[in-house]
Amino acid sequence: MSNSIQQIVSDDFDALNQNVVKQLHSEVPLIENIGQYLIDAGGKRIRPLLVLLCSRALNYQGNQHINLATVIEFLHTATLLHDDVVDMSEMRRGQPTANVQWGNPSSVLVGDFIYSRAFQLLVNIADMQIMEVMATTTNKISEGEVLQLVNQHNVSATELDYMKVIHNKTAILFAAACSAAAILANADATVQEKLHTFGLEVGMAFQLIDDVLDYDGDSKKLGKNIGDDLAEGKPTLPLIYVMKNGNAEQKRLISSAIKEGGLEHLDEIINIVRESGALEYTQKKAEERIAIAKDCLTVVPASPYKEGLELIAQSAVKRSK
Ligand code: IPE
Ligand code: IPE
Ligand code: MG
Ligand code: MG
Repeated sequence: MSNSIQQIVSDDFDALNQNVVKQLHSEVPLIENIGQYLIDAGGKRIRPLLVLLCSRALNYQGNQHINLATVIEFLHTATLLHDDVVDMSEMRRGQPTANVQWGNPSSVLVGDFIYSRAFQLLVNIADMQIMEVMATTTNKISEGEVLQLVNQHNVSATELDYMKVIHNKTAILFAAACSAAAILANADATVQEKLHTFGLEVGMAFQLIDDVLDYDGDSKKLGKNIGDDLAEGKPTLPLIYVMKNGNAEQKRLISSAIKEGGLEHLDEIINIVRESGALEYTQKKAEERIAIAKDCLTVVPASPYKEGLELIAQSAVKRSK
């Protein structure tokens, strides 16, 4: 997805990847092993790319943007370690999840290590406003994951409930990547706010599409199993759409899928979701978000970095991985 985007900031991107490896250092080999395992598997690095592109687009001349991008990728990595335990997921980035490979306790504890390392790096950046953004962001992400847990198996979950969950669990980190970069670059308050909204809307779209791909994706390309949401009885937007707009029989089947979870009826559920128009609806919602995101970029002067941001926004709704 993002090879051409990476090239726009290629030196920064290399520095980021080196810093990620360096900052994972620990005297406890298990920590480095698990950290390295996830890092070597790749990942799209969308969130740190947002940091690099935003800071460069706003003419930042220092080098703390590399640390900031590392912080964002570490927070993401830590949430993935925890998320795969909670979701009991078995595939991530094209390989068995860390919980499959090392077990839940190791995943949770190493997730904590990476999470706290992010805060050590933030101290190094030494900007109180960025610290505040990141403290609030991580707190909201946890809230989002808990809210999602509370909504698990809830057949009455509404589109608004769903939007609250993805706003917190996913979009806020995208928003923080962009707004913290704007703060670092000393941009004025309006630009900070616009970039916050840009990131937020891209993050919403990104998760909306992720939830489409759980029913319509190719697990080889995605690097994770499809049907994970269904297995967990997660009422994501495609299911919520059928619960509202489907016929009686479709509603009955989706309702029992949400209540019971499991993958026993995966093919049947996938068919219902596809036939109902739920995926087109969810895709449309994502595209609306991207239109708002692109509008926010009017405050950013033209440059290859700005074009990179536009490309990220575009690819968030066109992705297959
Ligand atoms: C996965 O994020 C978690 C979601 C918010 C859907 P990514 O799809 O960005 O994961 P990696 O980093 O590329 O593996
Ligand atoms: C993403 O949620 C995890 C966080 C944002 C914390 P999901 O559970 O929907 O993402 P995948 O499908 O595992 O990547
Ligand atoms: Mg998950
Ligand atoms: Mg998912």
